[in-house]
Amino acid sequence: MPSTLPLADRSAYLLAARGERPPHTPVWFMRQAGRALPEYRAVREGISMLESCLRPELVVEITLQPVRRYGVDAAIFYSDIVLPLKAAGFDIEIKPGVGPVVADPIRDAAGVATVRPVTPADVTFTTESVQQLVTELAGTPLIGFAGAPFTVASYLVEGGPSKDYAKTKAMMHGNPELWHALADRLADVAIAYLSVQVEAGASAIQLFDSWAGGLSPRDYERFVLPHSAKVLDAMKAYDVPRVHFGVNTGELLGLMSAAGADVVGVDWRVPLDEAVRRITAAGGAPKPVQGNLDPALLFAGWDAIEPELDRILEEGKAAPGHIFNLGHGVPPNADPDVLTRVVKYVQSKK
Ligand code: CP3
Repeated sequence: MPSTLPLADRSAYLLAARGERPPHTPVWFMRQAGRALPEYRAVREGISMLESCLRPELVVEITLQPVRRYGVDAAIFYSDIVLPLKAAGFDIEIKPGVGPVVADPIRDAAGVATVRPVTPADVTFTTESVQQLVTELAGTPLIGFAGAPFTVASYLVEGGPSKDYAKTKAMMHGNPELWHALADRLADVAIAYLSVQVEAGASAIQLFDSWAGGLSPRDYERFVLPHSAKVLDAMKAYDVPRVHFGVNTGELLGLMSAAGADVVGVDWRVPLDEAVRRITAAGGAPKPVQGNLDPALLFAGWDAIEPELDRILEEGKAAPGHIFNLGHGVPPNADPDVLTRVVKYVQSKK
């Protein structure tokens, strides 16, 4: 009997995310939309990053570009982790080649009060873009996403990208009440933004805590986990897979899993079979994993890449489901043809 499930639900990406073995290993790339693609550079010409996120026709086009070009198994909504703050009136920009920058970094209660809740009315362009995308993508699932409270807070408190998160850590330890108030507001922002995307038709969500690896497990558990868990718990009601990812999180994989992930994203530092052991050691059943080719390998030539793909696909068999990805985002100077070849190779494997 033919399945009555919506097409996307039978996609390789969603089957793997739900812990099943699809006919091939699904593959997509974090930051698959972006400067590596000439067609992206062409449509972004003269338009700032955040401005482009507010225009549904551009969001739809840019989200679809890597699906067309690479034939990946999932699309990720073209937006940014700071977009919902911007949409709610917070003064934040994305500086090309740098990242999010804030004119008035948050250092006190008055600053925290400027982070106001996001409502669906603030992001009607998101609803419109997602709805149109789901139609155009037909059976290819769309991943919705948000920044996790710690990673977004790090930009707001530091004022921009940081190597050591010194001011953020100073707030956590020096004024825990203020820190928790800020992180709680950011959890609500993430819940609101993710809910809008799922209600408009996104098939899965990914919570990016990209910079959580800067924290000790002790600090993560005390200052970050409760807030990420609030987001992931709230999203459980929607019954879509919840992916949780950060860079340099080898020491945190068990905790990030315990925060409420259905799928754990792994960077290139920990082999996937070892990641599964760490997740399981934290309690509970093994979970699907996502990862984890070192993005630097994209520049090493196919003879170096292919054995790495074989190794990762083999190690991924230790998990109940494996979604192939890079260990972090596509570098802006990556060769798109190499990424296409990676997709074809991975999809040819079970
Ligand atoms: O293709 C995709 O993955 C979807 C879109 C996406 C973007 N940002 C588009 C973007 C996603 C999922 C993000 C999330 C994001 N943004 C994260 C978490 C993911 C990760 O990389 O760990 C973080 C930390 C940010 C903050 C941010 N935004 C940074 C560090 C930068 C890079 C600045 C630069 O110019 O190098 C951005 C800007 C950004 N977000 C670009 C894109 C395509 C580049 C902007 C441009 O092309 O001008």
